This record gives sequence, C-alpha cells and structure tokens, in this order.
Amino acid sequence: MNKTKIAVFASGTGSNYDALVAAIQSGALSCEIVLLVSDKPTAKVVDKAKQNSIPCFVFDPKQYDQKADFEAEIVEQLSQMEAEWIVLAGYMRLIGSTLLQPYEGKILNIHPSLLPAFPGLDAIGQAFKAGVKITGVTIHIVDEGMDTGKILAQEAVTVNPEMTESELQTKIQSIEHKLYPQTIQQIIKQKK
Ligand code: GAR
Repeated sequence: MNKTKIAVFASGTGSNYDALVAAIQSGALSCEIVLLVSDKPTAKVVDKAKQNSIPCFVFDPKQYDQKADFEAEIVEQLSQMEAEWIVLAGYMRLIGSTLLQPYEGKILNIHPSLLPAFPGLDAIGQAFKAGVKITGVTIHIVDEGMDTGKILAQEAVTVNPEMTESELQTKIQSIEHKLYPQTIQQIIKQKK
C-alpha cells in the first residue's frame, strides 16, 4: 500500500513527533512525513526533523502582518510536498481559514486532557490545579475553534493523590505516544 503523505506541525520538544517517526520506522504507521512545519525557529523538534532529513518550513509569525499571510505560504509548501494530511503535534496556534479550507477534515490534533475539559494552553497544569481525579488525552479533527472539532479517540488517566504535576505529564505523554500513531493509522485507512 502507498504511504500516506503527512505534514507534522509542532512548536516544542517534539516527543510526539518522535513517536510518529518511531511508528513509521516500525511499520505500525503507513505514512511518510513530507514536511515539518514550525512557528518556533528555536524549537527542538526542528533540529530533530533536520537530523532525520525531513524538509522543514520554519517561520516566525512576528515577521508577518497577519495569520493569512504565513498560512498562505504553508499551503504553498504543503502543495509542493503533496501533503494529504496535517498532523498537529504540539502546534500551539489556532488554524485559520486559509489553511483550514483546503484541508477541511484532514487536520488532526492531540490535546493532553479529556476535551471539552481544559482546552487551550497548559491543559495538564489546568487539570492538576483543578484537582481532578481523572484527566487524559484527546485526538480530534481540527475546526476553527480552540481544541474543538470531532473527537476521534480519548484515553483516561487516573490522577493519584500522591502524584506530582510532572509525573502526571509523563503519564499523559506516554499515552499520547501510543494513541496518536494508532488513531492516525485508523483514520487514514478509513478515508483511503
Ligand atoms: C503534547 O502534550 C500535546 O498534547 C500538547 O503539546 C504537547 C507537545 O509535546 N498539545 C496541546 O496542548 C495542543 N493544544 P511534544 O512537543 O513533546 O510532542
């Protein structure tokens, strides 16, 4: 079967990027990462992608007048690389209509909470401070909202009373690293 061409968007460390690369290498995810897009020139994920020889489009949003301008450049790059899906892996920016329209229904996001609880920034910290007993991970289709859109998969994580916030983060991220490749593989097979 042909490999599905995906673009990964990330702003940070890239542990989910690493998990996607590992799943591709093991054959569990029948995709090819054709482009890494980052809005943070100094992000660790950019170095990782360069080391893997994955083409990168790295931009600084401050250099543009408006979101539509950098998104138009992203669309151009995506089309050059023939990307079929966009996988957000810690891309901390709302997607605007310039990008959403050509990729409607084909943009996936992972979020470290059981949405619709704790959308936005620092979801793990928000949940920890709220003292919830259960939080988790959500994978969803992206729409114009903040961490909204059709939910594809969720997995719950129990917050033990003695757990620190950093231990909770480690537990949530270990689930993310399994659930994201699995869910991407499922949805891509369904929509082929
Ligand atoms: C992940 O935990 C992901 O769920 C979160 O950013 C982290 C990126 O970590 N995304 C969001 O909060 C999106 N709203 P990583 O760079 O190590 O993959």
